[in-house]
Amino acid sequence: MQKIRKAIIPAAGLGTRFLPATKAMPKEMLPIVDRPTIEYIVKEAIASGIEDIIIVTGKGKRAIEDHFDINFELEENLVRKEKFELLEKIRPSSQVEIHYIRQKEPKGLGHAVWCARKFIGNEPFAVLLGDDIVEAEKPCLKQLIEQYDETRSSVIGVQNVSDTETHRYGIIDPKTMEGNRYQVNGFVEKPKQGTAPSNLAIIGRYILTPEIFQFLDKQETGQGGEIQLTDAIHQLNEIQDVYAYAFDGKRYDVGDKLGFIRTTVEFALKNEEIGAEVETILRELLSEKSVDR
Ligand code: UTP
Repeated sequence: MQKIRKAIIPAAGLGTRFLPATKAMPKEMLPIVDRPTIEYIVKEAIASGIEDIIIVTGKGKRAIEDHFDINFELEENLVRKEKFELLEKIRPSSQVEIHYIRQKEPKGLGHAVWCARKFIGNEPFAVLLGDDIVEAEKPCLKQLIEQYDETRSSVIGVQNVSDTETHRYGIIDPKTMEGNRYQVNGFVEKPKQGTAPSNLAIIGRYILTPEIFQFLDKQETGQGGEIQLTDAIHQLNEIQDVYAYAFDGKRYDVGDKLGFIRTTVEFALKNEEIGAEVETILRELLSEKSVDR
């Protein structure tokens, strides 16, 4: 059986929801407390046994490459100052190799994945999006890999969202359910409000078989004039089973402003170094606000 060794992290989007912050800085580099979002994603991939990662980057994304590179000057400086704990934090992991490819134009998530096709070759692979951080006892991607090992089929990570949110996601039309795993009739990208076939939304973690590239090769545009990964998955499901798996774990939506702020506050509260003080600050702010009212 083929092992899932490779992962794609698409990071070439424009990040318009965070403009102007993302005019010159990739949204994947926005920090949650003291760590860029993309580092949480890379850590999950490593903890799930991934050996090679390809990050799809675009214009203005050099900071991502620099972040995962060795910075000799900084390392020497930290050694001189005997800041060994920080040194550990800034050293790139030796457990994984990170590669880069450029998507020349942001034509959509499906196109970003297609850009990495030569790196993937003819083996099943993972895709992780930086818009979602998942905290789980067993890493989210590892849960999906275990499902792949059982089914030898593509597996898409899903979670329940409310009726008012389905129009923001790729949504599955479930057929049968076995434990947390679903067989699927179809996949719809951002259904209009009130038309979603279920509340099970695709949450940025995928295991895909290489046959997906047959459909991405067609470069068909869908919702929003973009080449959608969800549409290619829908087509893949017509020639081979694609399962959805409702993974265990708490998912943090860091792709929009409110979700990002919520995640930052929650992670700051949980942070050993600053958590207690953050709580005091929040209490102060809230009591000031209630006095204002
Ligand atoms: P999003 O639609 O959430 O990212 O795509 P975006 O386009 O950067 O953000 P907004 O909506 O303008 O604020 C999900 C993921 O797919 C990547 C993004 O970088 C993000 O990680 N993506 C999207 C690409 O790599 N290329 C694309 O053409 C589109």
